[in-house]
Formats: sequence, C-alpha cells, structure tokens
Amino acid sequence: MSKFSKERRFSLHGQWSSHLAFILAVSGSAVGLGNIWKFPYIAGVNGGGAFVLVYLVCVFVIGLPIMMSEILMGRRGRRNPVATMALLGQEEGGTSRWGIVGVVGVATGFFILSYYSVIAGWAVAYIFEGASGAFKGADAQQVEQLFSRISGNWFITGFWHTAFMALTIFVVARGVKGGLERAVRILMPALIGLLLLLLIYSMIAGDFARGFAFLFEPKFSELTGSGVLEALGHAFFTLSVGMGAVMAYGAYLPAESSIGKTSIAVVVADTLIAIVAGLVIFPIVFANGLDPAAGPGLIFQSLPLAFGQLPGGSFVAAVFFLLLSFAAWTSAISLMEPAVAWLMERQKLLRSVAAIVIGGLIWLLGFLTVFSNSVLSGFTFFQGTFFDNIDFVASNIALPVGGLAIVVFAGWFMSSSSTSEELDPDAGLGYQLWRFSARFIAPVAVVCIFLNAVGVF
Ligand code: PHE
Repeated sequence: MSKFSKERRFSLHGQWSSHLAFILAVSGSAVGLGNIWKFPYIAGVNGGGAFVLVYLVCVFVIGLPIMMSEILMGRRGRRNPVATMALLGQEEGGTSRWGIVGVVGVATGFFILSYYSVIAGWAVAYIFEGASGAFKGADAQQVEQLFSRISGNWFITGFWHTAFMALTIFVVARGVKGGLERAVRILMPALIGLLLLLLIYSMIAGDFARGFAFLFEPKFSELTGSGVLEALGHAFFTLSVGMGAVMAYGAYLPAESSIGKTSIAVVVADTLIAIVAGLVIFPIVFANGLDPAAGPGLIFQSLPLAFGQLPGGSFVAAVFFLLLSFAAWTSAISLMEPAVAWLMERQKLLRSVAAIVIGGLIWLLGFLTVFSNSVLSGFTFFQGTFFDNIDFVASNIALPVGGLAIVVFAGWFMSSSSTSEELDPDAGLGYQLWRFSARFIAPVAVVCIFLNAVGVF
C-alpha cells in the first residue's frame, strides 16, 4: 500500500459500515427513475430493439470501466469529487486543474436533480391516486386524462416537487449513511419483488410477444445518430456515472473492498431492473393500444391500466409508486451529495446548512420543469421544452463528457501502480481488461458517438 492510501485509509466523512452497505448505496443511486421511468420512455421514442442493443453495449463497454474508475478515484482521494480530482490531478497528472471535472460534475448533478425531483413528485402523487382507487377499471383514455390533470397542473406538480426535495434535503443534511443504508436494504428487494409480480401480470394479460419483440428485435433502420447519443447518455444516467456521484460514495469505501466485483454487481442489477421494467410496460402498452412513443408520461399511463385490472390493484398501485418514490429518493440523495460535500468542505459549513442552500437552489430551478409541463408547455426551443433541454444537455452531453474526462484521467494520467493498487491487484486479467477499456475502448467509443451525433460520420 502506498503512502497515499495509508494516509487516506479513512475518509473525512467516516465510512460505510460494511462492504454490503456500499453496494446498497451505489445500487440505490443507480436504480431509480432512470430504470423504470426513463428507460422505457426513451426506448419507446427511439423505436425499441436497436436502441436497446446500443444501450446495453454502452452500459457494459463504457459505463462499467467508468464506474470502476470513479470508485477507485473516490477511494484514493477520499474527498468530495472536486477536491479529489484536484488532489489526484496534482499527484498523478501534474496539475490541480483537473478539479474542473469535479466542478462540472457538481453542476450536472444540480441540473439533473432539478427535473428528477419533479418526475419523482409525479410518482409520489400517484401513490395517493392509486390508493384512492383512481385507477380502478380505468380505460386508456381515463388514465391519459388523469396524467395530464396532474402533470399539467403546476400547483400539484410544484407541491410534490417541493415535498420530494424537502425529503432529499432532510437525508443529505443528516449525512448520507444514517438512514440510507437501512432504507435501501429493505426497499430495493421489495421493489424487485413487485416488478416481478407485474411481469407475471404482463405475461398473462399483456401482449407479451409484441412487447418482447419491440424491446429485443433490432431494427437498425430506426436508429438515428441522436438515438445512439441518447443510448450513450442513458447508460451514464442509469449507472449514475460521469458526474461524481459514485466518486463521492467511493470516498467512504473501506480500503479492502473489491471495486471490480462491486461494480459488476451493480451494473448487472441495474440493467436487469431496466429490462424487466421494459418487459412489464410494453406488453401493457400494446395490449391497450397505447403509443410506445408517448414520452415522459409512458409509465404513468400504462401501469395504472394494469393496476386497474388487478385484484387488489389499488393497494398494489400505491405500494408500487411508493417503492418507485423510494428508489428515486436514494438516487436523488446521490445527485445532491457531491455538491453538498463540496460546499461544506470548501466553506467549512455545517452539513445541514450546505444541504439546505444547495437543495433550495435546486428546488427553485426545478420550477422550470414544473412549468415545462404546464404553463410553459408551448414554449419550445432546440430540443423542446425547458425540461427536454436540461435533460438533453445534462444526460447526453455533460455526463458523457465528464465520464470521458474521468476515464482518460484514470487510464492515461494515473500510474498503473496507483490504479492496480486500488483495483484487485490479484485479479490480473480483470485489471488488464479494465485498463485497456479505460485507455482505449471507452474514450474512443464516446468520441465516436459524439462525432456520429453531429454528423461527422
Ligand atoms: N442513476 C439514477 C437513475 O437511474 C439517476 C442518477 C444519475 C443518479 C446520475 C445519480 C447520478 O435514476
């Protein structure tokens, strides 16, 4: 162990209580609206199969090595992502200017959370709609009306966005480890169980063959350059990489934990959950004549149809949206953590003060998304509404650029003795594979996808 890792055996903010706690925290960050809300909706908009294939390749070939790089850098730096990048930049890359990568990441998390919280607010609102029996026996038209009644009303949406941000600020203010570990341990298995139950429903009552074919039959003619970019952006989004969230959590990781195994476990689980969500939703969509390209409302329009027909459906619906809200919550916490850790370390603020300041600003910014779906829905530019633009720039540009910088730093600027020390030194082939991907495959792939999207080839 080098002198650096000995000095920094422990982080400034304490440590996860166990290796399992870290896996739970990173999977809590990864599994969220990205898997259940965003993946089906963008797969639908981009025509299914071919998009899904590109997304899977991006997740395993680009996302996995980047996740490993983030965790190893976080653990080596043991600080917030800005300070970690600056410190490692100085030690390994000769300049603390690498801190900029951390700053961009902090800002990206800020922008993503501003709309993430609004969508999470829809999920919270649907807990109560479900419980009150609003889905019972509803037809396609009724669920669509219900969705526009909620998403199109800035007051209702703003209210739930406010409630969700308050809950997020509350946990971050108390320190990420306290409540989070316990919550993720119970809620994640419950969410998976419920998704599997819905999968059975979809197989029986949905048009499963068509839903399956939509997701897995690649029709390359439907794939555009911007679709490929979207698949790349979503690979980053769903794995929470490219902005320092995983780096911030890595800072609390005990020195002996295996980074490679943890990352593989998280990436596989995250991908399976997204695929199951797709297999639940598309059969329902096709059986009920809904539009797979309906956009951000897709799960809020398709799942209530299923709940409305299930025995005990009101209860199941309430539980499902409750679990979805929890999954969103554990992700939201990780979106805010880098900014809060940075502000408190930099300005020597109390954690609670930093959380309230950062959370308050994100809350305000969130109203751009709240209004995008209501009073400002007619105001569109570039990619569409404010929501579309914030999402596009943050997910499809900022995350891949951040991830590119992180992986280039880990692959090219960090010495192989530092990186091999952090990654299992005994897993020789695994290390070689990581290093090859970090140096060549991931950076080249990201650059090619960008060039492709702007039409160079
Ligand atoms: N991965 C989370 C999801 O899929 C979102 C997220 C993105 C969280 C980036 C942290 C950082 O819902």
